[in-house]
Amino acid sequence: MELRHDEHATVLGSLVAAINDHDTYTGGHSYRTADYASGIARSLGYASPAVKVVMQAALVHDVGKIGIPDRILSKEYELTDDERDLLKLHPVLGANILARMPGTARLIPIVLHHHERWDGRGYPDGLSGTQISLESRIILVADAYDAMTTERPYGRVLDPDEALDEISRFAGTQFDPLMVDAAHDAHRSGYLVTTGTRTIRIMDPEPHPI
Ligand SMILES: [Fe+2]
Repeated sequence: MELRHDEHATVLGSLVAAINDHDTYTGGHSYRTADYASGIARSLGYASPAVKVVMQAALVHDVGKIGIPDRILSKEYELTDDERDLLKLHPVLGANILARMPGTARLIPIVLHHHERWDGRGYPDGLSGTQISLESRIILVADAYDAMTTERPYGRVLDPDEALDEISRFAGTQFDPLMVDAAHDAHRSGYLVTTGTRTIRIMDPEPHPI
């Protein structure tokens, strides 16, 4: 279904607001991940419409967490196996939510596969390497970078260089090495930055297809 640009922005804006209402960590995380994913896409030389798709997918990548009980999302200690299995449903739940929204078809496979790993040991489908979309591979790195550099219930906050070093340790296993290099490039170019707020533009003067 084709949407007018303003309608499309409203759908995405409503989804992001719903994420925020459910869980403020995930809300802030979505905005920051969108900023970082955009920076990585820019350093890969993506043209503006392609950067926009990455940014929009990153904004809603965790929308499926709306379907995960808050007690699991905000748990301050290690999850049980059952709780972890439940949490791992969020990419599928997110894809299902987007499938019911008009104008978001382009984002569905990106969201569905944002936890697939380069070595095939991710979820939900165990895709590996280039079976995983470029956008999902970008978001995986951006997502991890934000998790490492943000105050959370567990884990020390890393500075940008420490976080990138840590991500480099998993190049070729968890992450696509190309995306790890792009994250380093983005950092050097000053693209790996976030406003840390909801000031990121969902609206854009140019209409764009999804
Ligand atoms: Fe996620």
